[in-house]
Amino acid sequence: LGVFTYDPGYGTTASCESKITYIDGDEGVLLYRGYPIEQLAEKSDFIEVCYLLMYGELPTSAQLDKFRVGVTRHTMVHEQIRRFFDGFRRDAHPMAIMCGVVGALAAFYHDNLDINDEHQREIAAFRLIAKVPTIAAMAYKYALGQPFVYPRNDLSYAANFLHMLNAVPAESYNVSPVLERAMDRILVLHADHEQNASTSTVRLAGSTGANPFACIAAGIAALWGPAHGGANEAVLKMLGEIGTPENIPDFIEKVKDKNSNVKLMGFGHRVYKNFDPRAKIMKETCHEVLGELGIKDEPLLDMAMEMERIALTDDYFVSRKLYPNVDFYSGIILKAMGIPTSMFTVIFAVARTVGWVSQWKEMIEDPSQRIGRPRQIYTGAASRDYRPVDAR
Ligand code: CMC
Repeated sequence: LGVFTYDPGYGTTASCESKITYIDGDEGVLLYRGYPIEQLAEKSDFIEVCYLLMYGELPTSAQLDKFRVGVTRHTMVHEQIRRFFDGFRRDAHPMAIMCGVVGALAAFYHDNLDINDEHQREIAAFRLIAKVPTIAAMAYKYALGQPFVYPRNDLSYAANFLHMLNAVPAESYNVSPVLERAMDRILVLHADHEQNASTSTVRLAGSTGANPFACIAAGIAALWGPAHGGANEAVLKMLGEIGTPENIPDFIEKVKDKNSNVKLMGFGHRVYKNFDPRAKIMKETCHEVLGELGIKDEPLLDMAMEMERIALTDDYFVSRKLYPNVDFYSGIILKAMGIPTSMFTVIFAVARTVGWVSQWKEMIEDPSQRIGRPRQIYTGAASRDYRPVDAR
């Protein structure tokens, strides 16, 4: 019935050529523009990684300064954007707000936006990298009923984000360097991951020539799902439901039961059939953050480590090459930083925005680019004649 190759979940189909991110899933290797993620997480910072992802090379000091100014001059959102929030229920999930408000940026930057103009593409990228954290923090403040906090361009990207999340007008707020470093690392580790579901969504939407702000909103929608960026939120929910370490063996048995449909959240990956290198760094950062915050006894971390220990020796997980992924430990760090669970995937979206815009830019600049249009294997009815309702 069809002449096309069927590849469920695109497991063996390359949708594009890309120079941005390389993953070797068997070896557990992740490179941004050729640089190992471990080196970038330790030695670089998020704004430099943004430059690297967008332009392909590490910046000189002058290039980095210019880039930083280029981004920070766009950190505020139009005052009209504030009014969008009044339309949401107070208990709306912040990812729902992100889909709506980031998409709405298209209404502010549409009329004169020519995506075929290199300079305008760059400005759109700057605006997105700059404004997504502002909108994310506004979504959080809206749920709390606290005033929105304006960005501070004298702070680093991570520190400014923490400032917008945590500051209140009544008190002075100083960002802790430990939390700043931890947030920066979370942002670096999540910045890009080649053609995952949300990035492929951005590319597919962008391949039609659609407004880039609307394309990023599409990526945010795809990221929200628990099989993708929503997993960090799902990990904490899972740990909470298991409750205590004694319940872990029963839970693992449930995961192994094919009929239960229960998954070990934060485990497994389409590409990594080895340790996700980001998970290793997350685990270290988790210990560092808890140590520096003086949290000695974190039951969730103890449970996570016990689950990891069991999963890495249990035949079900070993035979399927299921290892902890980036989301297994990130939620515990964010929780220790005082960030509520519903914001976890939002923070992933803040970090991934640079990956999405870099991939979108690369696609638009690729001369072989054409509209994404997958085919199908039709399995429906053969041609047949319409019958009036009284004859059926
Ligand atoms: N718990 C239990 N079993 C699992 C899990 C898991 N987390 N992941 C995969 N399996 C099993 C799956 O049931 C299948 O078993 P069988 O061969 O007996 O049918 C086998 O392992 C292969 O899995 P798959 O479903 O073919 O793998 P996939 O590549 O389609 O899915 C995944 C990858 C990440 C969606 C999946 O592993 C999963 O749902 N994990 C939990 C959610 C999660 O942590 N997602 C975050 C991914 S990393 C960050 C991101 O991408 O945003």
